[in-house]
Amino acid sequence: MMRKHVILLFLMALLLSACTEQLPQANYDVIPLPKEVKRIEAKPFTLREQTVVYYEEGLHREAQFLSEYVNDLMGYPLATTPFNGETDGIVLRLVPDDFTQAEAYDITITPHQVTLKGSDPAGVFHGVQTLRKSLPIAHLPIALPCGQIHDWPSFAYRAMHLDPCRHFMDLDSVKIYIDMLALHNMNQFHFHLSEDQGWRIEIKKYPELTRVGAYRNGTVIGRNGRLYDTIRHGGFYTQEQLRELVQYAAERHVNIIPEIDLPGHMQAALASYPWLGCTGGPYEVWKRWGVSDDVLCAGNEPTMQFVEDVLNEVMDIFPSPYIHIGGDECPKVRWERCPKCQAKIKELGIKADERFSAEDYLQSYVMNRMAKVVEARGRRVIGWDEILDGNVSETAIIMSWRGTEGGIEAARRGHDVIMAPASHLYFDYYQSEDPATEPSCVGGYLPVSRVYEFRPLPRELTPEQQKHIIGVQANIWTEYITSFHHVEYMAMPRMDALAEIQWNNPDPEKRDFDAFVERCRHMAELYDLYHYNYAKQIFSPQVYTDTVAPNLATHKPIYLREQPNEQYASTGATVLNDGEMGRIAYTSGRWLGFWGQPLDAVIDLEQTATLNHVRFRALVNKGAWIYNPSHASVLVSDDGENFREVAQLDIPITTWLDKDGNFTYELTFEPVAARFVEVIIKDHMLPEDHDGYGYPAWIFVDEIEIN
Ligand code: ACM
Ligand code: ZN
Repeated sequence: MMRKHVILLFLMALLLSACTEQLPQANYDVIPLPKEVKRIEAKPFTLREQTVVYYEEGLHREAQFLSEYVNDLMGYPLATTPFNGETDGIVLRLVPDDFTQAEAYDITITPHQVTLKGSDPAGVFHGVQTLRKSLPIAHLPIALPCGQIHDWPSFAYRAMHLDPCRHFMDLDSVKIYIDMLALHNMNQFHFHLSEDQGWRIEIKKYPELTRVGAYRNGTVIGRNGRLYDTIRHGGFYTQEQLRELVQYAAERHVNIIPEIDLPGHMQAALASYPWLGCTGGPYEVWKRWGVSDDVLCAGNEPTMQFVEDVLNEVMDIFPSPYIHIGGDECPKVRWERCPKCQAKIKELGIKADERFSAEDYLQSYVMNRMAKVVEARGRRVIGWDEILDGNVSETAIIMSWRGTEGGIEAARRGHDVIMAPASHLYFDYYQSEDPATEPSCVGGYLPVSRVYEFRPLPRELTPEQQKHIIGVQANIWTEYITSFHHVEYMAMPRMDALAEIQWNNPDPEKRDFDAFVERCRHMAELYDLYHYNYAKQIFSPQVYTDTVAPNLATHKPIYLREQPNEQYASTGATVLNDGEMGRIAYTSGRWLGFWGQPLDAVIDLEQTATLNHVRFRALVNKGAWIYNPSHASVLVSDDGENFREVAQLDIPITTWLDKDGNFTYELTFEPVAARFVEVIIKDHMLPEDHDGYGYPAWIFVDEIEIN
């Protein structure tokens, strides 16, 4: 009897341990990867329906979030209750004295308790996110392996930007964006609220801004072509909605930084109040993309008062310690001819010097004046890196977008800096080399791997200067992004890579891309769960037929009579017959770029051969001034000196309604025997409907094949 009992117990124990082992397991290797994860061999903590989340004072909302997340993942909300010294369950604690840094947290997992301590509620919230991301999507119970996590952010400022001006994104969409930021441990949301193409924030003192400025009566078709649709597009956020949004974000420990972009990118405001501009208009809410010449009149005192009033209402709504006042892409052509602006220059005693024009200094005057308005209310201004042109006050934070150079200069000049370079962090660029398979976007090529390589602390700066780099941010401009669904696709998973830079490690040499991709797989499960749209290229790297079949030209001696543009010379002429084809990224080094001169290549076939066919590829990226060639010709020679033409091809210029991409051109001729082949490819001039009208178009050519 006794023996039977023992055996039964033994069997039950076996069964039980088998059960725990088979429980779905949490995995703390989340995104962003915590700084330190230590695993301890012990019976795991079991998360069950009965598990309670205890919270110390001030952490009620954090506890609720954890309960909601468990419900999302496992279909069961955990009970939450104030901490009462209980030792079983999950405990959220606020222990500022245990930490030296804001937003830091520790998690200790023992067989009976998960203790999450934070330096502040934000730290606890990030710890809750780590727990959330570590959990499998499964039914309870779940096993949490024992161990310890120590974690803190590398950068105090961790942001994404969104432009709801080019295409309006409704309030619910913006809330989802904030959810996405919170999931990635980001704490700042840069909300770009004014543009040439639409004003998006209700300003009580200036109702025309939203009555008129929030709507445009059509949008250019294609890439700034000649045709427009006639669909009225727009929308705006009421102050009440924005206050609700501020609250929503604050609960998720995200601060909203409003941007009023000035003195350029103001055409929607000018359309609302034409007296704001130098010419007095009339203006319309812009239907094109790009940079409008019509900007705020810096010499008109009522215009300056308008900006001050707007900023004050903005600060009434947004408690943000940072207020973004733009400053990018402000053409000075109106100011140069405006009597008021010129009088202001005289009045202020502004003089041009060898570095900057009087109008550049006039912009500094505007930016510094608005910085004072903002600083008077205890806030700081952020501006795009153009505001370094002139004598901007050192208190302004510089957002480096035209590469990292502006940020480097700013840090040397004593400014705090946010790194957001287009080269690595403009998430409005393509994620694939094959745009035919992608929703259309502004162009370029910025895969997750390139984001992951970003080095936010430039080596050019001393450690002391590097302390000025307070944060890292990615931007999503929406000229070609017409829905929030598409915004999500552009954001993820590039924002996973960004999150690791911001939070885990600023040193790209200490990051492991393959391990990162593995961690992304669980994030993708979460994205599916939350119905987020995301790009999947990293999970199934695309395999291109990147090579051309060997032909008479492959790897033969080749030289160029005209050198390519220095920036796009890659490794030289051999790019053209190395057997490897360029895709859409003109920066890939697989293309040679020529500007203002033809491609003129001579290939030595090394022996006399019979040929009747030459083929080459060229790129079209109209936004980047890259057009198809205008003309191609093939010449042959027996001695490499005397050439005779055997074929030529006229190529009509591509139009805005034609797709950009990678095109093949072929020249076929009567079979001819020759040893040397010369290929000449000429450019078009940019057409009248292009911003660069009057300049030559670029040509980008790759792989020349001869058969
Ligand atoms: C910008 O992309 N114009 C800041
Ligand atoms: Zn003016």
